[in-house]
Amino acid sequence: MRIVYLNPCGTLGGAETSLRELLGSLRVAEPAWELWLVLGEDGPLASIARDLGVEVLVRPFPTSVAQVGDAGRLTTVWSLTKAAISAASYARDLTRLLRQIQPDIVHTNGFKMHLLGAWTLPRRTPLIWHIHDYVSRRPLMSRLLRLFRKACTVAIVNSNSVAQDLAHVLPGLRILPIYNAIDLHRFSPTGEQMDLDAKAGLAPAAAGTVRVGLIATFARWKGHKVFLEALARLPSGVSIRGYIIGGPIYQTEGSQWSARDLYQEAERLGLAGKVGFTGFLNDTAAALRALDIVVHASTQPEPFGMVIIEAMACGTAVIASQAGGASEIFSDGENALGHPPGDSAVLAQQILRLAGDPTLRHRLREAGRATAERLYHGKRLSDELAALYRKISGTPVEAPPEVVMQSSFDASK
Ligand code: GLC
Repeated sequence: MRIVYLNPCGTLGGAETSLRELLGSLRVAEPAWELWLVLGEDGPLASIARDLGVEVLVRPFPTSVAQVGDAGRLTTVWSLTKAAISAASYARDLTRLLRQIQPDIVHTNGFKMHLLGAWTLPRRTPLIWHIHDYVSRRPLMSRLLRLFRKACTVAIVNSNSVAQDLAHVLPGLRILPIYNAIDLHRFSPTGEQMDLDAKAGLAPAAAGTVRVGLIATFARWKGHKVFLEALARLPSGVSIRGYIIGGPIYQTEGSQWSARDLYQEAERLGLAGKVGFTGFLNDTAAALRALDIVVHASTQPEPFGMVIIEAMACGTAVIASQAGGASEIFSDGENALGHPPGDSAVLAQQILRLAGDPTLRHRLREAGRATAERLYHGKRLSDELAALYRKISGTPVEAPPEVVMQSSFDASK
């Protein structure tokens, strides 16, 4: 089996973290398979995938292609035209490359690659669109995916919530929910703990301080401002220090906060010295182990939420925004606490409750790790993927118009 993965970004956002785990688990389960990865941007994912034994080719997107997108404010007819012209020449090169590699399956991971994959697919090759986000939120991409949908054999989605959304936008497309997984050795309660204060340039926190962090890209809907507002609502005497871990990693214009936006917001809220900004960290596991509480604060429904399962696996107590796919992966009060998206008052209450109750933290930590071990391990992921790859390789490109809405497992059990 020779599989080519196409991924737009080289930096580790959620979809790339998911891909990293996918490649890692498949490498272990199927050592004889040839895995190729074509990246539209250089970055840490290239060497991470090489270390896993994947053949990596970096083919940078032309700037106009990299910058165009729904998320940005600046999608004008002119920017679209420029992007389309550059994309055509990029597609010619990609067509040649795929002809040389002769894959049995092309698996795309990211909207721009879903389109380019469909455009450049060698004849009679099955195409998998791995969709990590709500397509209905992307009017431009929805239209473009509709145009190219015939090329897609099956769409993998990361939750039932995303499956429903996709079925609505592209009725008749075959859709298969497969939950993400993580490496339970890397994400484990034992191991190095990062010095977050040093990373953030803060003096060491006093002993007994409860560390609460939000780990996310700087995409605007990840709820950084809600988290900062919640911190500002905490009574002044409590020993809690906040951390914002991550950075602006996307090239699409207008889609994310800059570090400066967030520093200014922290200052406006009187949080100077009470919250640290570490920047983007590659070793998420060591950062998670250094935190007592991880906050997930997305203001819109989260399609899945890798950080929730990563934190569970590291034995860090989680407070998560309860909507979308994220609410499929935890159960409020059992293995995490929930709060309504965008509600900084309830979030502050949950932080306060958990910070003041070490027994509850301990219970959530244990239950979280147990959940990760039961449901989010690589073997489950590689079994589901390998079965799908075997099933579709050699099958005709045009799939029957049928929606397969089956959950890979029941996360509530
Ligand atoms: C995207 C989604 C996120 C998910 C990740 C991996 O980044 O926004 O919710 O966890 O993909 O599937």
